[in-house]
Amino acid sequence: MNTIQATDQYTMKAFGRIPLVEAQGKNCTCTDENGKTYIDFGSGIGCNVLGWSNDAWVNAVCSQVQKLQHACNYYYTQPQAELAEKLAKATGFSRMFFGNSGAEANECAIKVARKYSSDKYGKERGTVISLVNSFHGRTIATLAATGQDVFHQYFYPFPTGHVFAKANDLDDLKSKLDGTVCGIMIEVIQGEGGVCALDQDYVQAIRKICDEQDIILIIDEVQTGCGRTGTFLAQEQFGVQADVTTMAKAIGGGLPIGICLVNEKCADVITPGTHGSTFGGNPVVCAGAVAVLDTVTAPGFLDSVKEKAAYLRGELEKIPEIESLSGIGMMIGMTLKTKDAHDVMVAANDAGLLVLTAKEKLRLLPPLTITKEEMDAGLAILRKVLA
Ligand SMILES: Cc1ncc(COP(=O)(O)O)c(C=O)c1O
Repeated sequence: MNTIQATDQYTMKAFGRIPLVEAQGKNCTCTDENGKTYIDFGSGIGCNVLGWSNDAWVNAVCSQVQKLQHACNYYYTQPQAELAEKLAKATGFSRMFFGNSGAEANECAIKVARKYSSDKYGKERGTVISLVNSFHGRTIATLAATGQDVFHQYFYPFPTGHVFAKANDLDDLKSKLDGTVCGIMIEVIQGEGGVCALDQDYVQAIRKICDEQDIILIIDEVQTGCGRTGTFLAQEQFGVQADVTTMAKAIGGGLPIGICLVNEKCADVITPGTHGSTFGGNPVVCAGAVAVLDTVTAPGFLDSVKEKAAYLRGELEKIPEIESLSGIGMMIGMTLKTKDAHDVMVAANDAGLLVLTAKEKLRLLPPLTITKEEMDAGLAILRKVLA
């Protein structure tokens, strides 16, 4: 059997896959098994933040895997310590927990909010409010926290204690504050929901409510974090700092990671035995993540992301078929005038450009290391496909 046949035969049919076998890549250009090349405007849904086979990341991962590939969390490892220290300094958070995916990081965040509240107020205060149109993951609890009905099917019973408020509607959110709420969970830009940024006033008003009512503000930065929007965390551009923030995707540079970061107030909520993970904080993954973090926080890197985003957005605005752009920085949603986004994604793939969709929009999450030449090559293909 070939790769496509074997995958389709022996893996569960969870994904609507495109018949393309990615074989290898360098920066933002990937080659399939037949030698055809593609410009990457998707970075594996925001994971290959430094592109394919970035030298610093490859060296960090390869040298670590030759020394120590795994250690159980009863012991200490240098890469985990280095990542934790550097990430705490880069973000201003006090402590973190390492898992393996965005959903796991969000599970941890929900546990932190609930335990903070039950330690202090007892067990009747466990409700987590999240927003309509949000996406927080595929585990049972994170599906329950996801504000889209399409995800609330089949897998009954879902956990209770999750309610939804309309995004950017403060009155609706306030109407859900019934004294049982321990956490409010938001994405400052709803990614899977269609690359929709929240209003800054609204996010700041939520921060204020959380402060006044001792509710834990969780900001899910699984998709927005690690430089994607031009700042290390997107919340910086909204003028707020969450109590709990989750990261995944990009910080791993292409290896599985999920991180739940907490502020001083929540620093001691998780105690021995209340949470855990076998692979979380794996030394190889952490060594790679340190290389990502060092690169993204190096002087000038985030400025270059802002410049690239301005260039890309400027060029996209000139394409007649594109009605409007959404998102911030290198997280770009495009509403099309006449064409179907999924059809465009398939046509772009055929023409040698990897793009994504989010709801009815075309979506771009290019690697942050993309060059001007690669942007121009990708734009040329997109212009043709959208003509
Ligand atoms: C905002 C957000 N949260 C959580 C997740 C889930 O992450 P993972 O697929 O790593 O579990 C995603 C994935 O797209 C996401 O975009």
